[in-house]
Amino acid sequence: MVILDFIRGELKKISKRRIITRKKIIKDSKIFDLLNDGFYISESIIDVNIINHLIKKYNLYEKNFKKSYTNIHIPVIDKKFLNYIQSHEKINFIINTFYSNVYKKAPILQTPPSIVITNPVIENSNKDYKIPSKWHTDYKNEFTFHVPLIDINTESTKTLYLKNSQNNININFQSLINIENYDYKVVPLIAKEGSVIFIDVSGAHRAELGKFRIMVQFKFTTGNDLITKIAKPKFYSLLSKNLKENFIPDSKIIKKITENDLNQIQELKLNKNWFIISQSSEYYNQYINNL
Ligand SMILES: [Fe+2]
Repeated sequence: MVILDFIRGELKKISKRRIITRKKIIKDSKIFDLLNDGFYISESIIDVNIINHLIKKYNLYEKNFKKSYTNIHIPVIDKKFLNYIQSHEKINFIINTFYSNVYKKAPILQTPPSIVITNPVIENSNKDYKIPSKWHTDYKNEFTFHVPLIDINTESTKTLYLKNSQNNININFQSLINIENYDYKVVPLIAKEGSVIFIDVSGAHRAELGKFRIMVQFKFTTGNDLITKIAKPKFYSLLSKNLKENFIPDSKIIKKITENDLNQIQELKLNKNWFIISQSSEYYNQYINNL
């Protein structure tokens, strides 16, 4: 076992060294920055009408959410939004180039995309938050992008990233990280609504609690750790419980919207690497049934 762990560790080091070498030959500046820093922000590349459409449809106004100790998730099956994102040239270019360069594989959507709402009670900072605010890394080969639905500024809840830590051969996936052991710069990922924040979450990152934030989160891996492998549909009933407790208007509004969209899921022309959406009906149903 010890020997196996040693071999795994060595293989990981070799693959990280390859990434570091490869980034020197990348000419596209976006990809270069992403490979170098571990994150890249594309400012205002999402049509404002698409953002407003989501906000209006789901009633995503700050006044509609209680302050809480947890993130609120709403799975999005909205046709207009998903079709827009999955055919977005720049987004596709960045994710595909990143995966082909780093992992020599295609990116596969790992979980159904969801709207994430964070409205923390910051006065009581000792309380144990159910928001990932400790420095950590995510699943193996995981990569994420966030679409902020409102501006994320220095005061907002935001992701902090340990710049360049994704290339550190001693930082493993799914680990808590003591950043005092490293000499990297902490960068707050700030962006205007409609921007896209690309994050290589194999580097150390955490949420910093602040003011109200809403964004849509997309998570990819190389096909490992798909939601159908890591969580039972019942997990989605916890997500609906959080919404029910913190959404001030009747949560039946969201139930109805999600139910309607689920009934039309066949009309979504999904990219083949987005198949997890069509395999997640049980998850969506758990969410709906508990609202
Ligand atoms: Fe994370």
